[in-house]
Amino acid sequence: MTSKRKRILSGMRPTGKLHIGHLVGALENWVTLQNEYDNYHLIADYHALTTNLDTSELYQNSIDMVIDWLAAGIDPVKSPIFRQSQIKEHTELHLIFSMLITTARLERNPTLKDQIRDLNMESVVYGHLGYPVLQSADILLYKGEVVPVGEDQVPHIEITREIARRFNLQWGIVFPEPEPKLTKFARLAGLDGNQKMSKSLGNTILLSDSPEEIQKKMRTAVTDTLKVRKNDPGRPDVCVVFSYHQKFNPTEIPDIRSGCESGVLGCVDCKKNCSAKIAETLAPFREKRAYYESKPDEVLGILSDGEMKAKKVAIETMSEVRTVMKIG
Ligand code: TRP
Repeated sequence: MTSKRKRILSGMRPTGKLHIGHLVGALENWVTLQNEYDNYHLIADYHALTTNLDTSELYQNSIDMVIDWLAAGIDPVKSPIFRQSQIKEHTELHLIFSMLITTARLERNPTLKDQIRDLNMESVVYGHLGYPVLQSADILLYKGEVVPVGEDQVPHIEITREIARRFNLQWGIVFPEPEPKLTKFARLAGLDGNQKMSKSLGNTILLSDSPEEIQKKMRTAVTDTLKVRKNDPGRPDVCVVFSYHQKFNPTEIPDIRSGCESGVLGCVDCKKNCSAKIAETLAPFREKRAYYESKPDEVLGILSDGEMKAKKVAIETMSEVRTVMKIG
C-alpha cells in the first residue's frame, strides 16, 4: 500500500524561466517538504491560457520550468512532475466543481481583482473567472491536503476548501479540505518596489541570471527615495534591497541596518554586496540547470514518468467521484 504520509499538491503556471520570488515564495518550501510528505508537482499549462492565448511558447516554457524545478532540488523520484493538460481528469473534475460555486463568490476573489489591476484588464473571460475552480480540481484530484504556495494563492485554497466541503455534503466524503502552507518570505518585492516580483511586471531576478546580469538588474532597484546622496541616512525598512539582504544575506543584517541608518553605507556598495550574495546562493542552481539543459531526453523522461504516476491517481479519484455521484 502507499505511505500514510500527508499528500502535497502544488503547482505553478509555466510563464517562462522562474525568478527568485518563486524560489523563496514556494519552491524552497517544496524542496524541504519533499522528505516529509508525498508530493505531486503540477505544471498549470491550462491556467496559463487565462491571461495569454498565445500557446506558441507554452510547451517550451513548461520544459524550462521543469528544468528550474529540478535545478532547485525537486527529486522526481519522490515527487512526480506533470503537465495538467496531459491528464484529462482535471477538466472533468473542473466541470463538476463549476456547479458547486457561485459566480458572485468567484467575482469576490481578491487574487483576480489584483490581476485585473496589475494587468490593466478591461474584461475577464469565463475561464479566468473559473481559475480557482480549475485549481481546486488540480488539488483535489490528488486529494492534496497541504498546498505550499505564495501568499497571493491563499484565497484560491480557501475556495478549494469550500468546494470540497460542498461536494462532500452533497454526495458523500471524498475530498480532504486542504491547508495552505506559506514560507517565511511568502512574498518577495520586485526590483521596482512593487509588492510582488512578477514576470508581467518586468521586475524580476531570474534563477538562471548570471552574476553580471544580477548586478546589472540590481542597479535599477528602488531604494529609500529620501536617501539621495551616499552619506544621507536611509530607512532600510522601506528599501527593496534591504529586503533581499534579509533573505539572502541574513548574517550581515545588523551591520547593513546601522550602516544605512547612519549614512556610512551607500546604496551602490550595498547593492553590489547584495548582488554578490544572491549570485552565490544561485551558483549551485545554475550548475544543475546547465546539466539538465544538456540532457533534454532525461528531462522528457522525468516528465512522462511523472505523468504516468499522476494519471493513475487521477483515474482512481474520478472513479470514486463517479461512483458517489451515481454517474458511474
Ligand atoms: N495558481 C497557481 C499560481 O499561479 C498555480 C496553480 C495551479 C496551483 N494549480 C495549482 C498552485 C494547484 C497550487 C496548487 O501560482
